[in-house]
Amino acid sequence: MSLPAKKSPGFGTSGLETMVLKQNMFEAFSQKIYQMAGLYIPYNEKNMALLSNRLTRLIREYDLNSYEELNEKLRIPSEGLKKDFISSLTTNKTDFFREEAHFDFLKVHLPELLRTKPEVRIWSSACSAGSEPYTLAIMAAEMLTASDRQRVKILATDIDNEILKKAVQAHFTPIEMDGLQPHHKQKYFTQISKQMFELIPDITKTVHFSEFNLMNFQHRFQKKFDVVFCRNVLIYFDKETTDKVIDLLVSNLDLKGYLIIGHSESGVVRNPCLKSIGNSIFQKIRN
Ligand SMILES: C[S@@+](CC[C@H](N)C(=O)[O-])C[C@H]1O[C@@H](n2cnc3c(N)ncnc32)[C@H](O)[C@@H]1O
Repeated sequence: MSLPAKKSPGFGTSGLETMVLKQNMFEAFSQKIYQMAGLYIPYNEKNMALLSNRLTRLIREYDLNSYEELNEKLRIPSEGLKKDFISSLTTNKTDFFREEAHFDFLKVHLPELLRTKPEVRIWSSACSAGSEPYTLAIMAAEMLTASDRQRVKILATDIDNEILKKAVQAHFTPIEMDGLQPHHKQKYFTQISKQMFELIPDITKTVHFSEFNLMNFQHRFQKKFDVVFCRNVLIYFDKETTDKVIDLLVSNLDLKGYLIIGHSESGVVRNPCLKSIGNSIFQKIRN
């Protein structure tokens, strides 16, 4: 028996198995994600495989028949589809204590900041599933008194609302907890099933999560931040977008505050208000 050329109503996977992502559709999706999230996905074999794989899942979820249909729906997308499209194309890899030198730096500088300011504001601006801001919260719990901890405010944002739901839930598998020391696992997590651990409220309550798109270049938060993390996301932007994102981060950073980016990203910073102080950490030296 031959397979139907097109999926039947109610959908099996038969139609999708024969779906081919053509170059013109690749270009259309790549342009859309660039406009929506700034992600630069040039045409090559690897990205073709990536887009076709991830968008096939989205097509299935929305009970559509083809890339062309998805593209048509994305012309004037519902808010839900737009979020799901963005979520399907973001890369969320993260870890606790990732690039540990950054946390070692803060161990020294956080007490210093707390000595001179009523509160210290930290922004994790592409926080993914929360391991980065939760690492900061664990670090604060380990080294500060209860009253000093209350003076540290952590805002964690990401464009991807699906990954933010996971972050708020704060459930982690043993693999996702690889970066943590055994005593951190023991002290700050409760086992809730064989393969799942939950971060305790004493830590989760100190991180505030919110959706934020770094393409919102003109946005100014009510108060400036003392430390901004923007790690392992600039690699997905082109030069023009990276410059604008860094301008945005610098505009929301207090004078003398620190911008911390991914180790592999330090070459992309070209902002006259920033001075490199090593380890892909920059200090704001002028307004
Ligand atoms: C690879 S993760 C990095 C997570 C964390 N900063 C770290 O270094 O472990 C990149 C994150 O950037 C987010 N992202 C991508 N484009 C974004 C945008 N335009 N605005 C805000 N977040 C974005 C993705 O959703 C993803 O969660």
